[in-house]
Amino acid sequence: MNKILISPSILSANFSILGKEIKNVLQAGADMIHFDVMDNHYVPNLTFGPIVLESIRKYPISAPIDVHIMAKPVDNLIPLFAQAGANFITVHPESTYHLDRTLGIIKENGCKVGLAINPSVSINVIDHVIDKLDLILLMSVNPGFSKQIFIENTFKKIFELKKKINLTKKKIYISVDGGVKFCHIKPLIKSGVNILVIGSYIFDNINSKFIVKKIKHEINNFKNISVV
Ligand code: DX5
Ligand code: ZN
Repeated sequence: MNKILISPSILSANFSILGKEIKNVLQAGADMIHFDVMDNHYVPNLTFGPIVLESIRKYPISAPIDVHIMAKPVDNLIPLFAQAGANFITVHPESTYHLDRTLGIIKENGCKVGLAINPSVSINVIDHVIDKLDLILLMSVNPGFSKQIFIENTFKKIFELKKKINLTKKKIYISVDGGVKFCHIKPLIKSGVNILVIGSYIFDNINSKFIVKKIKHEINNFKNISVV
């Protein structure tokens, strides 16, 4: 679990050339793709659904895709995203009445199970479902929009989460999502994050490949320094 993965959020990509945008970041060294589903109900924004994911798979894109569902109700969407090609499906606890059942549906559909934790939500929400989790997505902004400011209290939550995960024998990815810029990369790796979800910082730049390479370089630099 030492590898730090870069997961560009396509919410900030140019949708008219989405396949190309995804290919570019993967060629530059991104490890997976973050797919933000919004419904204008659970969050005040509207994005894309399973048919867009299916098109991405057909383009073809074979990299792992984490589908972050910000939609309510959520259970009926899970099989659709699994069939469309999701590898991870991440849900919010507030989007379902029966979280344990919802996480079970993700697993039954052959996907890795993710739970997203909003800035105001305690990490204790994982306590009775931790055995089911493969990924915990800590929201470092309130869900709904890209280009928001990173909430610094996230670092405290990563620290507490790390302690909880260490008590289990399970390997669970810690992913951080929202407002991540270059200055956050080192502190996030240092605090124990495994997956960096980054949207506007990558795709708002005219040269997204250059930015991904720059992030990759920073990750490798960090590894080299910490070995010495
Ligand atoms: C916010 C989304 C994030 C967002 C990240 O609700 O879940 O994935 O797109 O974009 P930036 O990096 O611009 O905050
Ligand atoms: Zn997201």
